[in-house]
This record gives sequence, structure tokens and C-alpha cells, in this order.
Amino acid sequence: MRVLVTGGSGFIGAHICRLLVERGDTAVIVDDFASGVRARVDGMPAHELDLAEPGATLALARVMRDEGVEAVIHLAARKQVGESVARPLWYHRQNGGALTAVLEAMLATGVRDLVFSSSAAVYGDADGIVAEDSPTVPVNPYGETKLAGEWLAADVARAEGLRVTSLRYFNVAGAGWPDLADTAVLNLVPMVLAQLDAGEAPQVFGDDYATADGTCVRDFVHVRDLADAHLAVLDALPRQTEPHRVYNIGTGIGSSVREVVEGIRSRLTDAPAAVTRPRRPGDPAAVVADVSRIADDLGWRAQHDLDDILDSVFAARAQ
Ligand code: WQD
Repeated sequence: MRVLVTGGSGFIGAHICRLLVERGDTAVIVDDFASGVRARVDGMPAHELDLAEPGATLALARVMRDEGVEAVIHLAARKQVGESVARPLWYHRQNGGALTAVLEAMLATGVRDLVFSSSAAVYGDADGIVAEDSPTVPVNPYGETKLAGEWLAADVARAEGLRVTSLRYFNVAGAGWPDLADTAVLNLVPMVLAQLDAGEAPQVFGDDYATADGTCVRDFVHVRDLADAHLAVLDALPRQTEPHRVYNIGTGIGSSVREVVEGIRSRLTDAPAAVTRPRRPGDPAAVVADVSRIADDLGWRAQHDLDDILDSVFAARAQ
């Protein structure tokens, strides 16, 4: 199958493209390469395109026709929570505009199947285990753009006979292959490693939450599992009868910030102890995925745990 992967040179996208190629499919990358790494997708057909720019729909439709695209995995998006608070209009323009171009190009080329990258951020301050029918009340513009994207994709799917599945990612970490490790320092694991590499103490943002050890709890899912889930969902789309489906992608198991920090420190020698800093505004105490729906529907479950995630990160660092 010839699959368009927008944002394919990114940390998650590159894992998806590699799995596609390894099983004999063709990954056609469209990316603005602003934050991705082109080398991650060497040897794959790639087209530099900013999907939020005027004229993107025509350019994308041309790529889809020329490349014989049969399905789309749309990952390209701005995803920094703090940046979205400072630049809400830009975030809605970027993320909403890119998805609009993708949907318009799909309609123009007769491509019916779409996997849309959504996020646990749509749940906002949900505390505890969240299922797909839990309240979706995003607390930042980034999460709003993801929820609005789900609504838009669902509306177009219903009106135009598309088959769309939105995947709500929980906390993605790890490295499926050492050369595809996350190079951005925007989330807990890379941020802790960056502090330790600089010879500084890792920081724990708040240890007075109503959790077992007082630090926040999250559902850390291996990026290799996340990529695998995209292929399982992609393969199920032709059998999907409803226009739009939503799945949580996580492990169903919560790990605390303290557990992650200590797991990293235990893999190092003489790593300085963590220091506790004030809570980070907007952090819910605990957000863990109910993962029963995708397991029931598709038989998919994450295969890796937190130790596997941290082992893969250190294997990549050893390269
Ligand atoms: C996790 C926990 C921090 C760094 C974000 C996005 C979400 C999704 C996943 C894309 C929090 C704490 C962090 C540090 C710390 N991304 N922390 N010290 O906020 O759960 O979710 O990434 O879809 O949309 O919002 O992830 O990694 O930023 O933080 O204590 O140096 O680690 O306070 O409790 P988050 P995160």
C-alpha cells in the first residue's frame, strides 16, 4: 500500500514510516522539515510542503496523485503546550489549516482512509483513568486544536463517506531504533536526561499531588508501540463501517514522575538526586489511558513497559 505520512520525518512519524517500509509498503512523506530530521526518512519519497500555507491543498493533491497515495496518516502539527498558550491563533491556523488541506486533498483525489494524530490533551484536567467517552475539556489551545481536528475530521467523514480513526496519544517516549531517538527536549524523559547531561539535578515539578508518591502520574507508551498501533488501525480502516472512530493509545498503566526520574538515575552512575520545584501550571495529577476499546475492537495492546522505554533510550544513547 502507498501511504502518505504527513510529518513523517518527526520522532513518531519516522517510526511509522520505518514500520511501513519494513513490511513492504511505501511511505510517502510530506513535511516542512521545520522540526523533523530528513535523514530519518532517507530513501523514501519525500516532499517539502507546509500544509498550513495557502495553496497547500493543490500541492498536496498533486503529490497524492503523482505518488498514487491510497491512505493518509496525518501527524504534522505544532505540539508545544506552552507555545500554544502564547500563540493560540497561530496554533489554530497551523493545526486546523493543515488538517483542512489534508481533507480537501483527500476529497480531490478520492482517497478515503485517514488516521489522525490526536492527543490525551483533549481530556484536559481529567484525573485518573480516562476512556474515549470521558469528558473532553482541553485546558490549552494545543488540546483544543486536537479536539477540533477530531470534530472536523468526523464531520467531513460523515458528509463525504471517508473512514477516519483518531488516535489519542498518551505520553510517548523511548526509541524503536537507536537512530530514531527523540531529539526534541520537550517532555519528561529527554528533559531529565538533558539536565543530567549538563551535570545538573533533574527537576520534579511538584511532589504534593494526591498520588502515591506525591508526583504526577502519566501513561508512558513506547513509540514503537504507538507506531505499531497506527499500522493496526490503518489496516482496519477498509472494514470500518462508521465514519469516525477514536482510540486511546497508551498502556493502561500509570508511572509517576518520581519513578521515571529514578529509573533514569538508576541507569547512570553518580547521577545527582532530583530537586523538587513548584508545580507546573496546568498539570493534572494523574492521566492514564483506559485502553480497552482498541483491545476489544482490534486486539491491539502495547507490548512494552516503562523499563523497556528507558532501556531503549539508553541503548540509543550508547550508539
Ligand atoms: C509529564 C510530567 C510534568 C519535565 C504533554 C502534552 C500532551 C502529550 C504528552 C502530545 C508532568 C513533569 C516534566 C521535567 C517534571 N503530547 N515534568 N520535570 O505534560 O503529561 O503531556 O506530552 O500529544 O499533549 O501536553 O508531558 O512530558 O511535559 O510532563 O516533573 O523536567 O512530568 O510536570 O507532570 P505532559 P510532559
